[in-house]
Amino acid sequence: MANIQLVGLRKTYEFRGQRVRAVDDVTLEAPEGKILTLLGPSGCGKTTTLRCLAGLERPDDGEIRFGNRVVFSRAQGVFVPPEQRHIGMVFQSYAIWPHMTVFENVAYPLRVRRVNPAEIRKRVYAALELVGLAALADRPAPYLSGGQQQRVALARALVYEPEVLLLDEPLSNLDAKVREQVREELRALQRQLNITTVYVTHDQIEALALSDVVAVMRDGKVLEVGTPRDLYERPRTRFVAQFLGTTNLLPGRLAHVEGGVALVETAHGTIQARADGVEVSPGESVLASVRPEHVTVGPASGADPVAWQGVVRSALFEGSATKYRIDLGDFPLLAYGEAGWAPGDRVAVRFDPQKVVLLRDQGT
Ligand SMILES: Nc1ncnc2c1ncn2[C@@H]1O[C@H](COP(=O)(O)OP(=O)(O)O)[C@@H](O)[C@H]1O
Ligand SMILES: [Mg+2]
Repeated sequence: MANIQLVGLRKTYEFRGQRVRAVDDVTLEAPEGKILTLLGPSGCGKTTTLRCLAGLERPDDGEIRFGNRVVFSRAQGVFVPPEQRHIGMVFQSYAIWPHMTVFENVAYPLRVRRVNPAEIRKRVYAALELVGLAALADRPAPYLSGGQQQRVALARALVYEPEVLLLDEPLSNLDAKVREQVREELRALQRQLNITTVYVTHDQIEALALSDVVAVMRDGKVLEVGTPRDLYERPRTRFVAQFLGTTNLLPGRLAHVEGGVALVETAHGTIQARADGVEVSPGESVLASVRPEHVTVGPASGADPVAWQGVVRSALFEGSATKYRIDLGDFPLLAYGEAGWAPGDRVAVRFDPQKVVLLRDQGT
């Protein structure tokens, strides 16, 4: 087992005379035995980064190390071919062979490597046990559900005990229920095997649920890296605050900042926010980012000096919570709360100051 390090990685494509910087100076680490997720919108360079790790693309610059082993280095002129990198890969399309049984699909990488038949049998069954498919070993691959087919692909990736697992949107072809189930299985399996994994997705819920570390990418660059909780609760950029879930961005002016606590004057009143890690000075335009679940909706009253007054515009019952749109003047505040308010109701809203995050208004 090993960690994975990318240093100053670059990959540019030429396409119809245009240069596309698919991966633009990416430096990252996937810690040993953990899941690093590359999260970002379509076209931000996730797949290209993964293909560089696999050796399916040759980067223009930078270095890739698996533990102490340099698998790519522009400076040292090193390029280790894919078959010598000891990786297992699973893609979005299951890419399992329809004319073979489950057993034969999983056995294939071992047959190519001329492993002896007794050993093949042992290792294929071990891999199928891991993904819960041993009972279906003799079934032709097409007679499987999408979730089962993806598990075959996973077993095939794991069968030669790779050092590193690379997964490119492996769940995105599955329907919602199955996706959630396979996601949990995948997480449990990764924990059990302790295999260093790089996971690619554009789905923020998946990234939050699966990862030890998330790297949010945009335009070939890594914007922020952190644990799911850190990034969700303390984003440093507007892009990450909005991409990881839903948030209200209240525009205002920074009035005062001291000891990591900021006071922001907005059109609706003053709001307190956490200001650790963001460099802004009093007087600057800023945003106070408030997640809808950190808004408390209560009865309108003049008694509470920190509550802001608003009017419920819409209430959508979503089962576990009710989603409200509350007009604060012309600002439509999104809030999740308990059922009980109806459109037209006058309400007071409060914010948990520990959960409000100060962001720069400029740039990202
Ligand atoms: N083979 C290629 N030739 C030209 N451009 C490419 C090629 N592969 C990817 N790109 C471009 O590189 C950028 C990153 O693509 P990709 O890594 O596939 O993004 P993601 O996986 O995040 O959707 C995109 O602008 C894409 O169009
Ligand atoms: Mg992709």
